Amino acid sequence: MKSDLDLKTKYDWYERAVQNPESEVDFMRTWFKKLHGRFPLVLREDFCGTGAISCQWVRKSAEATAIGVDLDPEPIAMGKERHWSKLSPTAKKRMTYLEGNVLEKHKFTADVICAFNFSYFIFKTRPQLLSYFKKVRQGLGKQGVFFLDLFGGPESQKIVTDKRKIGGLTYYWECQSFNPITAECTFAIHFRDAKGKKHENVFTYDWRLWTIAELREILTEAGFSRSIAFWEGDDEKGGGDGNYTPSEIGENCDAWVSYIAGLV
Ligand SMILES: C[S@@+](CC[C@H](N)C(=O)[O-])C[C@H]1O[C@@H](n2cnc3c(N)ncnc32)[C@H](O)[C@@H]1O
Repeated sequence: MKSDLDLKTKYDWYERAVQNPESEVDFMRTWFKKLHGRFPLVLREDFCGTGAISCQWVRKSAEATAIGVDLDPEPIAMGKERHWSKLSPTAKKRMTYLEGNVLEKHKFTADVICAFNFSYFIFKTRPQLLSYFKKVRQGLGKQGVFFLDLFGGPESQKIVTDKRKIGGLTYYWECQSFNPITAECTFAIHFRDAKGKKHENVFTYDWRLWTIAELREILTEAGFSRSIAFWEGDDEKGGGDGNYTPSEIGENCDAWVSYIAGLV
């Protein structure tokens, strides 16, 4: 379904609502350094959309390079305008958009590959996801780390809409269907603008909701030597504090977002 918004507004609102490239890049660099005693240099951002993470990555170090991979020329064109164009001339040379499929074999290896905003949920069967994780494993160097995020909890399987104010804008995250047999689900993002007009189905998603345990098993099967599950700290007001640390026991919250790192 086509959104009624112009492209610039659509991506601007999306990024304001669901992206935080600064904290995601800091998270990956920090944990890579803790694991390997050095900062990572080469990033492959799978399902990169506008490549906001890749652009942030090359800002962090004069040696860092990033390749953002996405099938769709629309977010890539928006990303060039919104992010890449604002980089310094030298940083521009270190960030490349690749219009292509994450399942393709690439000629380079990366220190870090990331798949964020749950994008790999498009792979709905174990063989499909295993084949993607194997491609990721092949695309990483000797000390490579694969970072992915996911969400879960009983609330995430209910047909409900969460809403959040972002300045004058209201962001809606709607679970439109959930099949308990296959774990297939559909979600949509809507916005209400400052004048009160609602823009429906600006982004829609047709996914499988994977669990941490399933993902870690598939990472092992794909050849990763180990994986780390990260769980968010408590803000003591019933919410998360934005600080993710390795954990094997998570509080059974109604809704949560988590990260996993797969190590070569
Ligand atoms: C949920 S968006 C995520 C964008 C961005 N990573 C973010 O964090 O907001 C998913 C993106 O994956 C892209 N995509 C879907 N299937 C793909 C594939 N097989 N290979 C490359 N990109 C794909 C879509 O074009 C879309 O831009």
